[in-house]
Amino acid sequence: MGFSNKLADYIGKSIEKTQYIAIDPIVKCNYVQKGKNFIFGRGDDDSAPSDLLYIGKILETASGSSFLGADAWLDTRFPHVLYITGTRGSGKSMDLGILIEGLSQLDQSSPVQQDITPVTTFLIDTQSQFWTLRYEPKGSDCKKQLEELKAWNLQPNALADAKIFVPRDSTKFIGDELPLTLRPRDVLHEEWCGLLGQEVYSPQGHLLAEVLEKLATTDFSLDDMIRNLREGRLSASVAESSRNVLLYRLADYARTGIFDPSGLKVEELLIPGRCNIFMLRDLRDEDKALVTAILARQLFTIMGRHHQQRRVSSFFGTSASESRIPSRVWLLVDEAHVVCPSSGDSPAREALVEYVKRGRDAGLSLVLATQQPSAVDDRVLSQVNLSFSHRLTFQSDINAAVARIPTKTLSGLRFSGTKISDFGDILRLVEAGQCFIGDHATSRTILVQMRPRITTHAGQSPL
Ligand SMILES: Nc1ncnc2c1ncn2[C@@H]1O[C@H](COP(=O)(O)OP(=O)(O)O)[C@@H](O)[C@H]1O
Ligand SMILES: [Mg+2]
Repeated sequence: MGFSNKLADYIGKSIEKTQYIAIDPIVKCNYVQKGKNFIFGRGDDDSAPSDLLYIGKILETASGSSFLGADAWLDTRFPHVLYITGTRGSGKSMDLGILIEGLSQLDQSSPVQQDITPVTTFLIDTQSQFWTLRYEPKGSDCKKQLEELKAWNLQPNALADAKIFVPRDSTKFIGDELPLTLRPRDVLHEEWCGLLGQEVYSPQGHLLAEVLEKLATTDFSLDDMIRNLREGRLSASVAESSRNVLLYRLADYARTGIFDPSGLKVEELLIPGRCNIFMLRDLRDEDKALVTAILARQLFTIMGRHHQQRRVSSFFGTSASESRIPSRVWLLVDEAHVVCPSSGDSPAREALVEYVKRGRDAGLSLVLATQQPSAVDDRVLSQVNLSFSHRLTFQSDINAAVARIPTKTLSGLRFSGTKISDFGDILRLVEAGQCFIGDHATSRTILVQMRPRITTHAGQSPL
């Protein structure tokens, strides 16, 4: 049973007891008493309960008002910037899977989607563990997951349209992986400088700018860049040794096979209901970041244009040209500290900052998951409007994660009879699959038991 208007007609598993008793009451939230539904990510509204994905159940009780056992839903109507933090094994990747299941076209209809129009999702899968979203859990390997699904009264399911992209040299084990290559023309000058280890304002940086300018109107290859550099006609005054540094580094990139003039065309992947999984484990960190940068940039360009045209047509009362592009897109990044670090060079940082800034008007959501909250770029995090805080242990990580929770934290909790008043200590207590959710609509973070996955979860052992 999905979102319900009848009391006691909520999703399967009943949670009637809890070890977690919060001290402070919840004074404001988006709660539908009938059917016990708790909604995150949007304020109260009277409209029909639509565009909601099912994430789990409230796992705490509080003095005054208790929501224990209520079904927890997440809004998909508005663009969000969601920050998922937690130690290794605390349930972050599970959350990413839960979100994708709620946003994508499924093989069979499922109560985890409450009146949802499937959108396009892009997943930066830095550990190559999400390909199993395509498969329904079955057999002895999935025994535990199947038991949990039964307890939650949810049926096994699978994504109807998930495409998996892998770099040329990665092992292929599914059979229909698509090659992931990038077009050199999509890489900006400052990104080339970063990738090749050169200052933007240096003789080498200048030389690169000249090469790129010369090739700008073409679908050029790395070989074209190398040829132009070798010719020596550009920036003739640049020392031979400087020129050679660039040549060696470009030749090195040519060997990785990540660039191709006919590489990734993001527009073609914007199919409603489709999940595009980029399995990047075998790439170097800077290349993972580059893939993310190019993807983010193309998404905000294409989606920005799409929504602009839609607004103009609606202003003039003309009909917008037929477009199959979805109105919403979600980009999800696992191990976000790798592609969007707080220090050092990373091409993805600028692109993601721009992505979140333009996101609201362009229908773009971003989800960042990390086990090192203190190592993710602040400018991106300043836009966070939703947080899932799983177990953390180190104080510096706790401080960084708590600083990004967009509402108040708990001032105290009674756990098995003992009172704990430090939120960091409370975070140290929660188990895998449990997290505090924070948003603007709820007066403080509230503890949620995340639901099991309906598609196969690859667990801790990525291939
Ligand atoms: N919602 C959940 N329900 C049940 N078990 C969970 C849940 N989330 C996580 N777990 C358990 O924790 C393990 C680690 O989860 P995972 O999402 O891979 O962690 P992380 O990405 O934080 O390292 C899972 O394999 C599973 O056994
Ligand atoms: Mg993980």
